[in-house]
Amino acid sequence: MSEKKPRVFSGIQPTGEPHLGNYLGAIKQWVKGQDEKENFFCIVDLHSLTVPYDPEGLRERTRKLASVLFAAGIDPDKSVLFIQSHVSAHAEACWLLNCVTPLGWLQKMTQFKDKSAKQESIGTGLIDYPVLMACDILLYNADEVPVGDDQKQHVELTRNIAGRFNNIYGETFAMPAPVIPKVAARVMGLDDPMAKMSKSSSSVRGHAVGVLDDPDEILYVFKRAKTDSYNEIRFSDEEDRAGVNNLLSIYQAITRKSKGDVEADFANARGYGDLKVGVAEVVIDALRPIREESGKYLDDPVALDAMLARGAEQAREVAMPKLREMQEKMGLIMGL
Ligand code: TYM
Repeated sequence: MSEKKPRVFSGIQPTGEPHLGNYLGAIKQWVKGQDEKENFFCIVDLHSLTVPYDPEGLRERTRKLASVLFAAGIDPDKSVLFIQSHVSAHAEACWLLNCVTPLGWLQKMTQFKDKSAKQESIGTGLIDYPVLMACDILLYNADEVPVGDDQKQHVELTRNIAGRFNNIYGETFAMPAPVIPKVAARVMGLDDPMAKMSKSSSSVRGHAVGVLDDPDEILYVFKRAKTDSYNEIRFSDEEDRAGVNNLLSIYQAITRKSKGDVEADFANARGYGDLKVGVAEVVIDALRPIREESGKYLDDPVALDAMLARGAEQAREVAMPKLREMQEKMGLIMGL
């Protein structure tokens, strides 16, 4: 008898350009697990409305992100890829879970504190962001949530919300576990190795490497990466060596070599210049096929939209019954 495959849910926002941190922290894991898992991947456009944005640009970024994900190897015959707003159960379930989530839990979220500090006026959506994320995960009864390190707190909150709902209304949701990569779970900015590489700073040239950047740009950004004056190429937890550590971790995540083998690869390097070029080269090789393939999807938006519509239909088949179960348990009149 074949065993039931673990169910995976994960999401990515269509804000800014997807970058190397998104690729190593999330997308690469998603692609790798496709055969052994049952997968739901979501472009979370509703989440991207929680900070100021440009509506016309959002449509373009959403399609571009879909093309990157398909080009990176998400296979629609193995995984469901869809756009969050196409499955209305997410927004509906969010109201229901809002009513079981204490406000104090949301006020403690690190990402809320960081993002709200940057806004003049804080929208309710920003504080509610993690509840919508909990709905994403819980509507699918996901067992695993492959994410970068920065999303761990949100997945833990999701478990707390699920536990509270299960306690009040009876067993409804499976307990999801965050799955964080061992290497490159937090890719740091190349201009500032103390700050996480992020889409919001990716317009600053030198901060991030975009998944769709051309080889010349990638080389330029790596050549300017901030390092230190030790001139010693080894992994380290020390703060003032964070730049070199970040470069080595990126190299390790792509080549999948051990730390010892990574250091050995640079044993004869003449300095940080060689390290930067060496890392740039493996990144360029890893991202090249994605950049080349993504054009194929972007050139045929009708076909791309059809793929996303199929994904939404498959997602609805799972999410709608779960929403109905929640409504039923919460005492709403159903089926009139
Ligand atoms: P988002 O769009 O910020 O990031 C998408 C994924 O990329 C990871 N990531 C990183 N990993 C390593 N280093 C970095 N510098 C880096 N920056 C980003 C993120 O951890 C994430 O896995 N809240 C989520 C989107 C979301 C979601 C969900 C995720 C909405 N609903 C349900 C999982 C399950 C987010 O903002 O991702």
